[in-house]
Amino acid sequence: MPLVTTTEMFKKAYEGGYAIGAFNVNNMEIVQGITEAAKEENAPLILQVSAGARKYANHTYLMKLVEAAIEETNLPIALHLDHGDSFEICKACIDGGFSSVMIDGSHLPFEENIKLTKQVVEYAHERGVVVEGELGRLAGVEDDVNVSEEDAIYTDPDEVEEFVEKTGVDSLAIAIGTSHGAYKFKGAAKLRFDILEEIQRRLPGFPIVLHGASSVPQEFVETINKYGGNMPGAKGVPEEMLRKAASMAVCKINIDSDLRLAMTATIRKFMAENPEMFDPRQYLGPARQAIKEIVRHKIVNVLGCNNKA
Ligand code: G3H
Ligand code: 13P
Ligand code: ZN
Repeated sequence: MPLVTTTEMFKKAYEGGYAIGAFNVNNMEIVQGITEAAKEENAPLILQVSAGARKYANHTYLMKLVEAAIEETNLPIALHLDHGDSFEICKACIDGGFSSVMIDGSHLPFEENIKLTKQVVEYAHERGVVVEGELGRLAGVEDDVNVSEEDAIYTDPDEVEEFVEKTGVDSLAIAIGTSHGAYKFKGAAKLRFDILEEIQRRLPGFPIVLHGASSVPQEFVETINKYGGNMPGAKGVPEEMLRKAASMAVCKINIDSDLRLAMTATIRKFMAENPEMFDPRQYLGPARQAIKEIVRHKIVNVLGCNNKA
């Protein structure tokens, strides 16, 4: 089976009241952990690559790892560029075999965001590739940019119809209070479901994307802190909020930080308990297994996309 786009996945997810997991990949163990869980749970999957991941692991290596994952699992898998910030990087990923790209013009004024997004959509659609746009601005850390909770801007429902109509995007990422990274809320977690509801009312049937959707399991944070780490106050989106979003118009839920936490907690613990070991397979193996377990948990208990492949 070749790479698929997200069109069919989103249609079924919208109708079925569940969401597809979009997991960030940076190396072989991460690809393997995610795809083994998806295979065992028979779940459709989006593997996404950030500009940083592309720089770290190289486009061709990531492409080949994903091709291997498709061969091994026979699952519908979309390969997606996460947070493309220019036409050039989107073009490189479209030309280089991705089936989906995000053009993130959320930092631009509305008209410029429309212009850039439309340019990417035209190039992508001519080549059978789908496009995710973004309106509103999430808080948190993304590459080197750190947006504070106060500087985040909720998506304005008044803008969504015009944006979707003028750009032709296939899905829309919105800001309703989630944020990137492991420190999402200073106080109690709060998502603006009223904004999501209004967007859903204005764009019936249209797939919405939730970024910054890691739940930051406290057992990982505690393990990291126990074994020499320092992550006080790390906090994520409660899983019941994600389940609620998945039952609404949210068809794609982005998860990266939880995989990083699973991997890092496992490796820190292993290193502390086995100071004499130096074979990377001995700590990367359990790290891969930890990723598999957290992804399985997300698929079954949060996204609800098990047995939907
Ligand atoms: O939204 C950002 C993702 O977590 C990717 O992070 O740019 O550090 O690879 P990265
Ligand atoms: P988290 O940092 O919550 O995992 O969000 C990831 C994300 O939105 C990738 O685009
Ligand atoms: Zn994101």
